[in-house]
Amino acid sequence: KRRIGILTSGGDCPGLNAAIRAVAKSAYNKMDAEIIGIEDGFKGLINKKYKMMKPEDFSGILTRGGTILGTARTPFKRMRVIEEDNLDKVKAMVNTYNELELDALVVLGGNGTHKNANLLREQGLNVIGLPKTIDNDIWGTDITFGFHSAVNIATDVIDRIHTTADSHDRVMLVELMGNKAGWLTLYAGIAGGADVILIPEIPFSMDSVLVALKKRYDSGKNFSILAVAEGAVTKEEAVMTRKEFKKYRKEMNHPSISYSIADEINKQLGFETRVTIPGHQQRGGSPSSYDRVLATKLGAFAAELIERNEYGQTVALVNNQVVGLPLEKVAGKLKKVRSDNDLIKSGRSVGTSFGDE
Ligand code: F6P
Repeated sequence: KRRIGILTSGGDCPGLNAAIRAVAKSAYNKMDAEIIGIEDGFKGLINKKYKMMKPEDFSGILTRGGTILGTARTPFKRMRVIEEDNLDKVKAMVNTYNELELDALVVLGGNGTHKNANLLREQGLNVIGLPKTIDNDIWGTDITFGFHSAVNIATDVIDRIHTTADSHDRVMLVELMGNKAGWLTLYAGIAGGADVILIPEIPFSMDSVLVALKKRYDSGKNFSILAVAEGAVTKEEAVMTRKEFKKYRKEMNHPSISYSIADEINKQLGFETRVTIPGHQQRGGSPSSYDRVLATKLGAFAAELIERNEYGQTVALVNNQVVGLPLEKVAGKLKKVRSDNDLIKSGRSVGTSFGDE
């Protein structure tokens, strides 16, 4: 019998259950497998919190949001190598793996999760990663599951904001998730026809934003929409040290960047402004059909790797092909939006401002 542990770690997203189901059902069908669900991410592996799963546990979960296994943020902050403080936790995880007599551990997660997964691989565990996140920022894969669903939700928010912005002649700012990477804001911004898109990878100047809005107003448009990533920064902020940046933002006394942009627009141009922050709605609910398909493809491949005893990999979509990438290559790297990204070019071509013109 092959004993497979599965855990989900980091922020949840639509598609996690679809991927869990795909791993489990494929494993049951391909091999004589026993599945153990580790609860609440790596914490469960440390604290031996798990449940023996039955085939029926994986029925009816394809369309369900969240994760049936529970999740938690990684218990190691900024961990690249095993530091003294983390040693006990790592030992505890290895212990649980051995005590449960696992043959393989499948971890579904984002960047932090992949770092941890790689550390466990270095400890000799048979680990397979699966790339989930609404941020789409895992290095190596064209797309992560969860992203497409979040883009749909965020686009719907922008669509709804459009009609009310139009009715009230307002400048409306929609702040979307994405602290370090702007994929979600870029895609939803383009899909929702935002006039200005601000993402962490392209530091903006307030002047450019004002010029873009003024130009739109002068062309006869009575409202504007800005899609702002939560991690968007100004050009001045981009060159600050972390400490300076934190102090500067604190002094701004705004809950987030969108509010200071909104204030400035109101002050400089006199437009009435409003800020909308959909927040965790972007991570909730049923996965899109695209994400269900992607999660099923990637999850099934994870089971294939286990069957072949090929570990130390994360499953990725590269040029539309499902492949395994070495965990050591993926861990610790972030896939950011590059300034020569096609979609940015298309956006500029249709007149979208990225605040850097
Ligand atoms: O990584 C997913 C994500 O939703 C980010 O976009 C966001 O910055 C963060 O998680 C929010 O974290 P939390 O759920 O812990 O508030």
